Amino acid sequence: MRPGSVLRFAVLGRSVGTDRPRRILDVGGYDGTLLASFRAPLARAIVVDIDAAGLSLAQRGGLLPTCASGAALPFPDGAFDAVLLMDVLNALSPSLQDDVVREAARVLCRDGRLYLSNVDPTFRLPFCDMAQLWKLWRARPGESWVRLAQLLDAAGLDVVSQRSFYGYLARLTYACFFHHNLPSRGHRLKLAAWRRVAGFDARWPMGAQARLLVAQRRTD
Ligand SMILES: C[S@@+](CC[C@H](N)C(=O)[O-])C[C@H]1O[C@@H](n2cnc3c(N)ncnc32)[C@H](O)[C@@H]1O
Repeated sequence: MRPGSVLRFAVLGRSVGTDRPRRILDVGGYDGTLLASFRAPLARAIVVDIDAAGLSLAQRGGLLPTCASGAALPFPDGAFDAVLLMDVLNALSPSLQDDVVREAARVLCRDGRLYLSNVDPTFRLPFCDMAQLWKLWRARPGESWVRLAQLLDAAGLDVVSQRSFYGYLARLTYACFFHHNLPSRGHRLKLAAWRRVAGFDARWPMGAQARLLVAQRRTD
């Protein structure tokens, strides 16, 4: 599992926990690592992405891959109980962000939930050149809370809950283990330690610089 996905699943799993969605769409899900982490049987688990390499990994993992843009989802209205939009928005241009969030809202069923994660504009990994990292990640610094609220509102969604994550400890650990590769040996041990750090971060995210929003279609 990719280190970023470990961290995101730690916080996502805590939020989804009691909702038990059965039909989940992961928009911008790359290799489907997040979907594959759900232990409960899913009736429908689809990964949508524009990256064919990621999708072929998702297929090997037993998920249904669909190569499409999140801005034009090839699914009927109300087809899913949950839509994931995890760390995708800052890979998109502002106008595409509007389209993607609107499409996510369209394919949600009446009581369905959108799970959206995003780093804050202040997000920084210690001892790293952030300009270089954004280039490497093919992304831009995250969106402000005001912008996220605006995107959700325009798509007819209300925030029902939110969690903060990616605190000091998680950022320092990620930077050392995976960016600077320190220590340079013991990858399995580092991943095991990282899982612990991610679990801790999902509960006590001191100095958090990312958030997970859970939103639902407005009913009035
Ligand atoms: C940072 S990765 C996040 C991967 C995964 N959601 C996770 O949390 O581990 C961003 C993903 O968004 C995908 N993406 C970028 N533009 C997209 C678009 N218009 N439609 C669907 N996916 C897109 C990229 O190919 C990439 O796999």
